[in-house]
Amino acid sequence: MLTTTAAFTVSQAQAAGNLNVICSADVVICEQLKGDFEKQHDIKVNMVRLSSGESYAKIRAESRNPKTDIWWGGTGDPHLQAASEGLTQEYKSDKLGDLHEWAQKQAESSGFKTVGIYAGALGWGFNTDIFKEKGYKEPVCWADLLNEELKGEIQVANPNSSGTAYTTLASLVQIMGEDKAFEYLKELNNNISQYTKSGSAPVKAAARGETGLGIVFLHDAVAQAASGFPVKAIAPCEGTGYEIGSMSIVKGSKNLDNAKVWYDWALSPEVQSRMKDAKSFQLPSNKAAEVPKEAPKFEDIKLIDYDFTTYGDPKTRKALLERWDDEIGAIAN
Ligand code: G6P
Repeated sequence: MLTTTAAFTVSQAQAAGNLNVICSADVVICEQLKGDFEKQHDIKVNMVRLSSGESYAKIRAESRNPKTDIWWGGTGDPHLQAASEGLTQEYKSDKLGDLHEWAQKQAESSGFKTVGIYAGALGWGFNTDIFKEKGYKEPVCWADLLNEELKGEIQVANPNSSGTAYTTLASLVQIMGEDKAFEYLKELNNNISQYTKSGSAPVKAAARGETGLGIVFLHDAVAQAASGFPVKAIAPCEGTGYEIGSMSIVKGSKNLDNAKVWYDWALSPEVQSRMKDAKSFQLPSNKAAEVPKEAPKFEDIKLIDYDFTTYGDPKTRKALLERWDDEIGAIAN
């Protein structure tokens, strides 16, 4: 009798167990998700925050002995790359039908190895106090970022580590054509003070007055303004790209049942509606989730028809990053 009870307790503890999560969005939303999930489930979450490109590299490096179960957040391109390289696994959540078309398309195009959880458009945020003090012209177009007066005033992330920066690179290539985009980036390099590791770091630096402007997702600029910093968000006049923030289950996950529990939970309207409490102002993928009033709306932005299939393809992503290393990374100050 005693043995049976003991065995039952052990198997229950195992069923609850652990969940190893890589979170590729802002640390505040990552921590909120971990806290909420642990409150609602008998599962301990071990979480690391890594940028999108770094997360992909980690999952790839660990593919023979996966240490991660769920990869939540970050831009969709590296999730698509991981899917097409067989690093993540198919899962069809019951919640799929409740999602916006763009999020379902992300799932379908990857053979259900990833799914859209949020979306957001690219732009920049600038420090209005610095711009006023120094008499800089308000930059409303990509072309304005090349103004000589902005020398040393701009930060953007490195596209190898950051999904935000890869989205920037791929968007410029789609807007201008590849050669023109690289010419633009070379010229822009004259005005760049730093290529950061994380995608949202440039606008956090602008908020604190450490730099004039950061090229980031618009919702990251809005988050700084909502925190009381003198930051204005701009959607570029020539048009811009966007991300489908994504979530994937790692192939060979050792806590697969728990990973599915997280996955279904993270697609629910309740969880997505609460993202705004962490000043995470993306557009949620569940149709029933509340759209934060601060979220930059796609109707107000000149969006390009971002080609996720091409730019999430391993060959394209690898080639663009190599060209960036050769032509921009090599001259970066
Ligand atoms: C921020 C944004 C997210 C985005 C992420 C990508 O956290 O709020 O919407 O997915 O950046 O991060 P990364 O560091 O890879 O550019």
